[in-house]
Amino acid sequence: MSPTPPIPLLALLLLLLSPPTRADCECGYTVNATLYTDLLETDFLHLPNITRDTDWQPQNYTVSPAAARGPYGKNASLSNVVANPLHDNNTSAGPGLLGGDPGLQLWVRGGIPQDGLIPIAEIASARDDMLYGSFRASMKLTGTPGTCGAFFWYYNNSQEIDLEFLSRQFPPPSNASTTYPLNLVLQSPLSALANSAAHTPTFTTYPLPFCPTAAYHEYRFDWSPRAVTFYADSVPLASMNLSVPSAPGSVHLSHWSNGDAGWSAGPPAADAVLAVGYVKAYFNSSAERRQADWRARCKDLSAKGATCVVPDQEGPPGEAETWFFSQQANMTGNQTVFGG
Ligand SMILES: *[C@@H]1O[C@H](CO)[C@@H](O)[C@H](O)[C@H]1NC(C)=O
Ligand SMILES: *[C@@H]1O[C@H](CO)[C@@H](O)[C@H](O)[C@H]1NC(C)=O
Ligand SMILES: *[C@@H]1O[C@H](CO)[C@@H](O)[C@H](O)[C@H]1NC(C)=O
Ligand SMILES: *[C@@H]1O[C@H](CO)[C@@H](O)[C@H](O)[C@H]1NC(C)=O
Repeated sequence: MSPTPPIPLLALLLLLLSPPTRADCECGYTVNATLYTDLLETDFLHLPNITRDTDWQPQNYTVSPAAARGPYGKNASLSNVVANPLHDNNTSAGPGLLGGDPGLQLWVRGGIPQDGLIPIAEIASARDDMLYGSFRASMKLTGTPGTCGAFFWYYNNSQEIDLEFLSRQFPPPSNASTTYPLNLVLQSPLSALANSAAHTPTFTTYPLPFCPTAAYHEYRFDWSPRAVTFYADSVPLASMNLSVPSAPGSVHLSHWSNGDAGWSAGPPAADAVLAVGYVKAYFNSSAERRQADWRARCKDLSAKGATCVVPDQEGPPGEAETWFFSQQANMTGNQTVFGG
């Protein structure tokens, strides 16, 4: 019989020195004590090329004027989705490589389109299995009248959560003492039938106390089975508990115009840009495969560090620090992240 080999000194030292537990977030991320198993985070301020980031699908489509229900149709194309990253990873503010506002630029082209289709921009998440969650985007809106800037979650025309900015509603810069409207919508069977949410109970316009075209702010909606709550820079704006979606969908950003005087108006007189600093989403998945991934990585929900609290954005991004789990070591293990 061979004697038991002694524990090598180095291994013993490592054992003694290793921290007792680490925060691995293997069971997920909590927002106000609600657990979400999956995440999608994109730091557009440092992303050089959107077509290489397979978490996102820049959209290519055309909609006729009749189908768009405007005097104009829409032409979404990759050329209007422009990555404008900061100069390097150590820079957190300043102009992008192409000049102007950094991040992902979504352009609506100005002027009367010869073909009747206004050139617009939209991106959608590759994942369409998002079922309940907290969805956040840092955005700086355009001050050029005649566009709709939208951050939304979509399943179909009666299950949709929308944050929409109409640039025509922004007061002119000379009128600085006023508020800035933000339209909050849950699309519903009623709005789908009427092709408008205008006279439905799940539409409200919130007067923001800050100018959305002057700086990046974080816009957010938390969606649970009971309610959807909208936020700006972590301040709750409104909650809705009717027509709450119950199917899985995808998250989108778009900047568009169809010339409809009652909504987007436009087309804008000049090219108009919406800049996106980041998107962060913490959500549950409807996909059996993702649920199996979660069961495999989450052995003990109550273990220390098994769940991680999602911090609130304390103040406008750009002025305050922004947190990404995906930029820490070991806090996104075995997550389905396609990345750039
Ligand atoms: C957090 O959850 C509690 C308990 O469910 C609720 O009363 C409160 O309104 C929530 N806070 C926010 C900011 O959603
Ligand atoms: C999300 O999934 C986790 C794990 O199954 C569950 O504990 C949690 O309640 C779910 N959250 C919602 C809002 O359904
Ligand atoms: C982005 O990447 C795609 C695919 O690799 C490439 O075709 C395209 O030229 C790149 N765009 C820029 C602006 O570098
Ligand atoms: C959206 O999907 C739900 C559930 O599948 C369905 O009942 C509803 O009719 C759909 N709405 C539209 C506008 O297609």
